[in-house]
Amino acid sequence: MAEIVGAYFTSHVPAIGGAIHKGLQQEPYWKPFFDGFHKVHEWLAQVKPDVAIVFNNDHGLNFFLDKMPTFAVGAAAEYHNADEGWGLPIYKPFAGHTELSWHIINSLVEDEFDITTCQKMLVDHALSIPFELAWPDVEAWPVKIVPFAINTVQHPLPSAKRCLALGQAVNRALQSWTGDERIVIIGTGGLSHQLDGERAGFINRDYDTFCMDNLSVDPAALTKDSIHEMVRKAGTQGVEVLNWIAARGALGQAPVQEIHRNYHIPISNTAAATMLMEPA
Ligand code: DHB
Ligand code: FE
Repeated sequence: MAEIVGAYFTSHVPAIGGAIHKGLQQEPYWKPFFDGFHKVHEWLAQVKPDVAIVFNNDHGLNFFLDKMPTFAVGAAAEYHNADEGWGLPIYKPFAGHTELSWHIINSLVEDEFDITTCQKMLVDHALSIPFELAWPDVEAWPVKIVPFAINTVQHPLPSAKRCLALGQAVNRALQSWTGDERIVIIGTGGLSHQLDGERAGFINRDYDTFCMDNLSVDPAALTKDSIHEMVRKAGTQGVEVLNWIAARGALGQAPVQEIHRNYHIPISNTAAATMLMEPA
């Protein structure tokens, strides 16, 4: 069976890509955020994953408001980035693990999850920025991907409970996979932020701390709020924490330990957070 080496969680603000592009990592505004990645680089060099299962959300590059799958799963041999209008470079392509994608898709449908299977899927800053942060300056990404896009954009959104259950179902799929890959689970987005409306700029350190404190030891604690309560506590875009919750589910039910955390306010409009978890 494949080995799940652990999980990497990070915010995915587009401005981070601009800072990388311009080499601003040591500037006072950016340093406290980028300094949180030394440990991520060390850890990835040590655990050497070759596949990443990525829980993120599409921001309109791939799906738009006229068609919005609740849970979409990629089954492509290659995934491309495209111009999203942020002035970022177009990121190099991401190799897919097609066989593992189909295994997970079959297992999820068997498990009664009504997912959308995407044999073509664009990936946006929610995937490319976390990859740039994790593996800076590589010629080719060292992992193949299986991307999940969770609807955190257009209501009705899936509940936190359902996202945790989705992740747990992915973990069950991995238990029955006979390959010997080293798998890292990635959750992107969040933490609290709101980009629009009267509360634009809203950040909630207390709620973020609650989420980070409980995600490893008691992820179900994050599933008690309704989506509307989560929007109230995390902000309209802060509900991207749903990606983190699904990713935590994919780590499985055995105990996991937090091995790294960085939390910095603000990066752009976002309370930026980075975490690592490993099987205990
Ligand atoms: C920002 C945050 C996001 O999650 C995103 O997708 C786009 C922008 C921001 O804080 O600027
Ligand atoms: Fe986002």
